[in-house]
Amino acid sequence: MKILNDYCIQMGTKEYAPIMIGGMGTNISTPEMAIEAARLGGIGHISDAMSCAVSDLRFGTTFSKDKFRKYKDQKHLRNKSFAQFDLNAIAEATKLLVSKTMEMKKGAGDVFINLMEKLTINNPKETLKTRLCSALEAGINGISMGAGLHLNSFEMMSEHPRFRHAKLGIIVSSVRALKLFLTKSKKFNRLPDFVVVEGPLAGGHLGFRLDDWHKFDLKAIVAEVIAFINQQELKIPVIPAGGIFSGQQAIEFIKMGASAVQVATRFTIVKESGLPKKAKQEFFKARKEDIIVNTISPTGYPMRMLVNSPCIAAKTRPNCETYGYLLDREGNCSYNEAYLDAESSQPEGQEVRIQDKTCLCSHMRNYRTWTCGHYTYKLKDKATIIEDGSYEEPTTEEIFNDYLTGKD
Ligand SMILES: Cc1cc2nc3c(=O)[nH]c(=O)nc-3n(C[C@H](O)[C@H](O)[C@H](O)COP(=O)(O)O)c2cc1C
Repeated sequence: MKILNDYCIQMGTKEYAPIMIGGMGTNISTPEMAIEAARLGGIGHISDAMSCAVSDLRFGTTFSKDKFRKYKDQKHLRNKSFAQFDLNAIAEATKLLVSKTMEMKKGAGDVFINLMEKLTINNPKETLKTRLCSALEAGINGISMGAGLHLNSFEMMSEHPRFRHAKLGIIVSSVRALKLFLTKSKKFNRLPDFVVVEGPLAGGHLGFRLDDWHKFDLKAIVAEVIAFINQQELKIPVIPAGGIFSGQQAIEFIKMGASAVQVATRFTIVKESGLPKKAKQEFFKARKEDIIVNTISPTGYPMRMLVNSPCIAAKTRPNCETYGYLLDREGNCSYNEAYLDAESSQPEGQEVRIQDKTCLCSHMRNYRTWTCGHYTYKLKDKATIIEDGSYEEPTTEEIFNDYLTGKD
C-alpha cells in the first residue's frame, strides 16, 4: 500500500513533501508551525492577516495603539475613511513578521505567506501592494494569494526584483477564477507556481454562496482544473484543499493528477497553533451539528465556525480606529454600520447586540471567532484524553507525519 510519503511535489527546481499547511489567520498558523512544516520538508504558511496587530502581540510594537491615538478624536464619526493605515507601518509589520520567521527557518522545505486580498484595509490597492512587496523584500519563500483574489496582484509585484524568483500561487474555488487570473496576468509572462483549489469543506471564508456551498464537490472542481491545465499544456501544480483528513485521502487526489494537498483543520489544535488552549479544547469537543456556515463576516463571504464562537451576537463596540482591516475604500464596514444603526434605534440603557454581523477584526484578534473546517468534529477521533479529562495537543510534527505515513 502506498503512503503519501511515496510522493513529492516539484515546484521549479525544488522538491517538497506533498503537504502544504494552509494559512490560518489571525496568527493561528504561527511562524512556529510554519517552520516545523519546512523542517519536515513540506511547506508551511504564516498569515499576514492583521499584521500590525500581530506584530504588537508578538514583538511588542505599538502600531495599533499609535493608530488609535492618532484617530481617537474622530471616533464619533460614522464614516471611517479618515482612519487610514500608515503604509510604512504595514511594511514594517510585514517585514518584521517575515524576517523573524525566516531567521528561524531550517530544513529542506519552505515558508510561504498567505495574503487574503479581502482585507481591504481602508485602501485596497496601495495596502495590498505594500503587503505583497514587503513580504518579498523580507525574504519570504512564496506567497499564496486568495480569499477575494485580486486579479492585479502580479502587476503590483512585477517591478520587484524577486517577482520571478519567489513562488507565487493563487487560491481558487473554480476553474473560472483560474481562467480569469491567467488571462489578466498573461502580459507578465509568468504563470502562478501553484494553484490551490479550495473546496466547500474548508475552514475560514468560503468561495461559495451560503445557499449552495453544499452542492459543490472538491473532487469535481479539481478534475475540471486539471483538465483545463492539461488542455492548455500548462505546467502548474494543482493543490486541492478542504476536508482532506488523512494521507490516504490525499493520495486519492494525487492519483487524479494533483501534486500535493493543502490542509489546515488538523493543525488548529497542535501545540504550535496560535489558538489559546481553551479554544483548542472546544475544537476537540465539537460535534458535527456544532459546525456551521454563516454570513456574519463583514467581508460578505460565508464563513465556517463553531456554533459556540464567542463572536456570535456579541456586544462589541467597533474599533475601526485601532484595527479597521475590513474597511472598504470608502471607509465603511457592514458591522460598524449595523452597530451604529442599532445603537441609535435602541432604547436608552439597553445593550446593543448584532445578530447578523460580527466585529471580525476585534474577534479574530482576540481568538473569539472559532473558524474551522467541516471535519473539525473528527479531531477527537485521533486525539488522546489526558488525566485532567482534556484532550492532549499533538505537535505539528506528529500530525504532519500522520498524513505522510498514515495507512487508514
Ligand atoms: C482556523 C482556520 C483559519 C483559516 N484561515 C485562512 C486564512 O486566513 N486565509 C486563507 O486563505 N485560508 C484560510 N483557511 C483555509 C485553509 O488555509 C485551508 O485551505 C483549508 O482549511 C483546508 O481544509 P481543511 O481545513 O479541511 O484541511 C483557514 C482554515 C482554518 C481551519
